[in-house]
Amino acid sequence: MKVQGIKNAHRNVGAVIIATVVACGVIVENVGRAEIRITEGVGRYILEAGHPSLAEWKLPPLAPASDIHGNALTDLGRRLFFDKILSADKTRSCATCHRPELGWSDGLPTARGLDGKPLARATPGLANVAYGSLFNWDGRVASLEEQALGPVFSQSEMGSDSEELVARLEADRFYREAFTKLFPNQPLNEKQVGLALAAFERTLLVQDTRFDRWVAGESGVLTDSEIRGFGVFIDPNRGSCGTCHAPPNFTDNGFHNIGLESFGHGNPDLGRYKIRPVRLMRGAFKTPPLRNIALSAPYFHDGSAATLEDVIEHYRTGGVVKENLSPEMKVLRLNAREKSDLVAFLKAISNSHVNFSTELALEQQ
Ligand code: HEC
Ligand code: HEC
Repeated sequence: MKVQGIKNAHRNVGAVIIATVVACGVIVENVGRAEIRITEGVGRYILEAGHPSLAEWKLPPLAPASDIHGNALTDLGRRLFFDKILSADKTRSCATCHRPELGWSDGLPTARGLDGKPLARATPGLANVAYGSLFNWDGRVASLEEQALGPVFSQSEMGSDSEELVARLEADRFYREAFTKLFPNQPLNEKQVGLALAAFERTLLVQDTRFDRWVAGESGVLTDSEIRGFGVFIDPNRGSCGTCHAPPNFTDNGFHNIGLESFGHGNPDLGRYKIRPVRLMRGAFKTPPLRNIALSAPYFHDGSAATLEDVIEHYRTGGVVKENLSPEMKVLRLNAREKSDLVAFLKAISNSHVNFSTELALEQQ
């Protein structure tokens, strides 16, 4: 890495980039606060608040909801999400596992099943699922509407039965009236439950972290360490994280085997391979989006990393199990400062709050 002290050179951006792309590849110039520049690799970025080169990290506005129900459907979905009526024995709601204050995850290495025993995979956080296209760690479901019914009828998660659930909702005055109002002339059915839950999940947006404000042009909201951390994150010769955790939602919507230790066990979870049986997909899981990641420890589909530091240490080693490893994984040369800068950056793409009134939701539980 070449460090150059060109004060205020960013004012003359175009010329500087061309002048500084030399044989050594990526050049990071650190000329004081907010003036780091990455001139090659995953895009060409000038790390300065609001710089046009950062625009691809801006989350685009979402297409308007395709339903005509507006807020009423979302409100119904919110109520259902926090209501234990969806589980057979009325002991758990979606929020039992997807807790707002934990980034809509559960704080456990892997989810806990109805019988109290651990399930095979971790509960993913739900921030920005509205931007996703394939759901669950293996991407086996292509819509939030369909996904939402999965846990309701799964024997290990909520254990409900379709007929019994519809009967229960019909017997509840609030739900009977709400569904009738939204779907007049239609008998209450499970599809409507999926529609409402999905509408609510699309409101779980995180678009206003300090990083987002910085990208939008607010200077002074990120510390030097956080800005350097972003530099490490996107620099293909440093963290190389941005190759997979790509703009704008920190995901390439792809699947990779990142060499977790659990893949070396006797009967490993094959992940995406069960859905798409091609070799590269053995042990590959979906690249999770990272906004609000600081809230949803532990990490990875098997919950094997307790902290963000552990996550970075995993990547530094280039993966434990090398068999069928993603070609994008490599041993990283990161010094102590770069590692702590990366952690600082991951916190800067997280809000300390959830954009949600937890009190209101918990009242309903
Ligand atoms: C027992 C805990 C548990 C409960 C209850 C639960 N989930 Fe999940 N949720 C999980 C786990 C574990 C996964 C990952 C499953 C997999 O990859 O196979 C998941 C995945 C998801 C995903 C996919 C997220 C992504 O990024 O791909 C969504 C959306 C979701 N759940 C919504 C819901 C809704 C809605 C409910 C209530 C109807 C619910 N969950 C109930 C544990 C739970
Ligand atoms: C080869 C593509 C790839 C690269 C490179 C990569 N990631 Fe990941 N990342 C993934 C995938 C895939 C997962 C989920 C893997 C699993 O659980 O099996 C993941 C998971 C994570 C998680 C945990 C998310 C959660 O919800 O549990 C964090 C945090 C993370 N990555 C940060 C980083 C950082 C920081 C870097 C750079 C040092 C990086 N990643 C580099 C693909 C990648």
